[in-house]
Amino acid sequence: MTSEHTPAGPAQTPNGATPDGATLGDAVRAAVQILAEAGVPSPRVDAELLAEHLLGVGLGRLRAMMLGDAPVPEGYAELVAERARRIPLQHITGVAHFRYLQLAVGPGVFIPRPETESVVQLVIDRLEQLVASGVRRPRVVDLGTGSGAIAGSVAHEMPEAEVHAVEFSEFAHAWAAKNLQPLGVSLIRGDLRDALPELNGTVDVVVSNPPYIPAEAIPNEPEVALHDPPEALYGGGTDGMELPTAAAASAARLLVPGGYFVMEHAEVQAAWIVSMLSRTGRWTNISTHLDLNGKERATSAVLAVPPTE
Ligand SMILES: C[S@@+](CC[C@H](N)C(=O)[O-])C[C@H]1O[C@@H](n2cnc3c(N)ncnc32)[C@H](O)[C@@H]1O
Repeated sequence: MTSEHTPAGPAQTPNGATPDGATLGDAVRAAVQILAEAGVPSPRVDAELLAEHLLGVGLGRLRAMMLGDAPVPEGYAELVAERARRIPLQHITGVAHFRYLQLAVGPGVFIPRPETESVVQLVIDRLEQLVASGVRRPRVVDLGTGSGAIAGSVAHEMPEAEVHAVEFSEFAHAWAAKNLQPLGVSLIRGDLRDALPELNGTVDVVVSNPPYIPAEAIPNEPEVALHDPPEALYGGGTDGMELPTAAAASAARLLVPGGYFVMEHAEVQAAWIVSMLSRTGRWTNISTHLDLNGKERATSAVLAVPPTE
């Protein structure tokens, strides 16, 4: 695993500028140029967040300080150099912001993405309906919890829910334990294919953002290709669909009849997932959902209630 805090000299722009400019404003402007030249997708935001991380003053106050003659915080040039080497911002700061949570993250765990926040909203909407209809303590399972982003958000935003989380990777499990323990989530280290057999047929909502990238589709961004763990990315099989298919099978095993399953996937996989769920004959109300960018990034379904004899 790459060391996230390897000492490095200050990064430089081609004209020799460094983020050690005379003032905070100068340094952040130089950092924006350095990060842009390194291909960082959001150089201004990242340059500001790195300064904010060192100063701990909030972005509004930081921007006000940049207008004056505030000094450059110690260590800023080194952090900018790390980010210019395309180490993820969240690995440098140690924090990922996700809905209302600040999750501890670092090497060995998948950094939660904004599109997954929309998947959490689908879970919360369903839980609100369940609670309104009289279910006092709805039970939720998050398969492949990573940092605990989904399970932790559900527990935080819906205290009525009993939340369980499953994670296979030893390293991700350690990050999840740190994030989920204070939120009262029951976390186990296990395989989503056969985890939690004691809950079979008793769960109200199963949610998963499983690995789903096809084996050959290696992501371009160094932050993803080099720093997200491979076991969090590749779904297995040439089409990446082995683990998503297994997650759906486990959801059918865990859910109570009428229970709700929602799973994140790539936009191009939406039709395949709908057809995979339909083929089993076990699901009704199969629906695809758009993320905030209007892309089909999640599919939900309701476990069919068996006909009475
Ligand atoms: C795409 S990441 C999503 C993490 C988190 N749910 C999120 O949305 O940020 C998929 C996660 O599934 C875990 N995983 C992979 N295979 C698994 C398996 N067989 N059983 C349980 N978890 C698994 C990975 O280690 C990784 O943490």
